[in-house]
Amino acid sequence: MNLSQLESNFESLAAEDPLWTVLSDDTKRGGKWDENEFYKTGEGVIDDLETRLLQSGLSLGGDSAIDFGCGGGRLTFPLSKHFDTCYGIDISTKMVAYANQRIARGPNCTFIVNQNTQLENFENESIDFVYSAIVFQHIAPRYTLEYFHEFSRVLKPQGLFVFQLPSRLDPSFEGNRKPFRRLRKRFHYRCKAIAQRIPFFNSPSYFEMNAIPRERVIRHLEKQCSFKVLACQDFPAAGPAWISRLYIAQKQ
Ligand SMILES: C[S@@+](CC[C@H](N)C(=O)[O-])C[C@H]1O[C@@H](n2cnc3c(N)ncnc32)[C@H](O)[C@@H]1O
Repeated sequence: MNLSQLESNFESLAAEDPLWTVLSDDTKRGGKWDENEFYKTGEGVIDDLETRLLQSGLSLGGDSAIDFGCGGGRLTFPLSKHFDTCYGIDISTKMVAYANQRIARGPNCTFIVNQNTQLENFENESIDFVYSAIVFQHIAPRYTLEYFHEFSRVLKPQGLFVFQLPSRLDPSFEGNRKPFRRLRKRFHYRCKAIAQRIPFFNSPSYFEMNAIPRERVIRHLEKQCSFKVLACQDFPAAGPAWISRLYIAQKQ
């Protein structure tokens, strides 16, 4: 789907149930997430991030960080404990409003709505760290690759870009054993996106899932965006149907 469709899908999902939109556990649908329990999950993710960085000889800290696709700030707030300033960026005004209402969880956070692939609020080489989890999987690959250029522009030399992205469907997953699974999935999303543009169908909001092969991600980051990929690790955050990775890339 294109970016304006992506924005309107996330706006309506956020209006319905912002916490379930972020962590889509079926047992929590319909406002059943306990807010403190929801935010606690983010602390575990950022602790794990710190451990992974340490294992690569890197540290989590600096003047400024961006949490891209911040949603309600679940990861932005614990990330902000390691930085002087932390920016949460999201395409959805409702998500940003939700995070802003909880700013006491991270008073050094600033939440920004950004609805295109240019990060106009940020100067060249002004940021130490960019993080993003369970976001690029919902964005069509052509836009994800454009965002990579922007993160390269805004990061300081030696700054880190750490992000999660599925690389492919997991062939060992039962539901992926049918022939032409990847093509069928693409066709399915194509039809959904077209149907949603026709008001007559009154199509409900949905999440689109995307993957980019690992080799293509690394090639794009290294050949076109001045990054060096330091690590690419298993990071099963996209559900059992997908092989998902965490990339640790450093701006050269
Ligand atoms: C599944 S939620 C994850 C939120 C957060 N990263 C977390 O793990 O708590 C995905 C978020 O990405 C945001 N998003 C999707 N596409 C985006 C884009 N192109 N630019 C900025 N935010 C985007 C959505 O609005 C939503 O808040």
